This record gives sequence, C-alpha cells and structure tokens, in this order.
Amino acid sequence: MLAGACSLALSGCERQSGSSGEAMFQQHCAACHPNGGNTINPHKTLRSKDFAANNIKSPGDIVHKMRNPGTGMPMFSRNVIPDKEAYQVAHYILSTFK
Ligand code: HEC
Repeated sequence: MLAGACSLALSGCERQSGSSGEAMFQQHCAACHPNGGNTINPHKTLRSKDFAANNIKSPGDIVHKMRNPGTGMPMFSRNVIPDKEAYQVAHYILSTFK
C-alpha cells in the first residue's frame, strides 16, 4: 500500500523514508515489480518464496541479477545504478518484501 503511494509521489516518499534504496526501487524496478511482485513472470517475484526457489540468497545475488538479468528484464549497468545504490536497492528489497 505504501509502495503504491510512493510511486505516485516519489519526492514526498523519499523525504519521509529517507531511503534512497526505496526511491531507486520506485524509479527503476517498481513498474515490473510493484509491491515486490512481477508483472511479466509471476514465478520470479521479489518475495522470499521465489528467491528461495531461484537461489537468490543475498544482496549480492540481487545486484548480480541487475547486472545479468534473465528474459524480460532490462540490464542495469553500473552507469545507471552504481554498486552502492544497487546494494541499497537490494537491502530495501530484502527488508521490505517477505
Ligand atoms: C521491464 C520489467 C522489469 C524491470 C524494470 C525490472 N525487472 Fe526484475 N525481473 C523482470 C523479469 C521479467 C524477471 C524474470 C527474469 C528471469 O527469468 O530471470 C525479473 C527478475 C528479477 C529478479 C529475480 C527474482 C526471482 O525470484 O528469481 C530480481 C532479484 C529482480 N528482477 C530485481 C529487479 C530490480 C532490483 C530491478 C530494478 C533495478 C528490476 N528487477 C527491474 C522484469 C523487470
């Protein structure tokens, strides 16, 4: 619910949460992964059940996915999301979607 509100008012969301991981997620990922889901491949959500099934265990695994995505997901290079921000996004995902 909060995530939906954030994507509508990104700047306000950033101010409230102070989390750039969340802001980056809303900017780059939320279109296909709203609320940790997956609008393209329902078996590859950002929730713990699918992470376990797809062998994604750590923030590094999520960053790896951003650099080497599977079918249907665009590649996010270091130029688009530098490592520091990529890890912030990964931590946001792991601490937000269960
Ligand atoms: C254009 C749609 C799209 C965008 C934007 C997108 N993704 Fe994805 N994402 C997908 C699709 C499709 C898959 C399934 C790809 C596959 O088969 O590996 C996926 C898979 C993933 C997975 C693996 C999930 C699992 O359970 O195996 C992670 C992690 C992930 N995305 C993170 C991100 C992050 C972080 C961002 C933003 C930086 C992002 N995605 C942006 C479409 C997208």
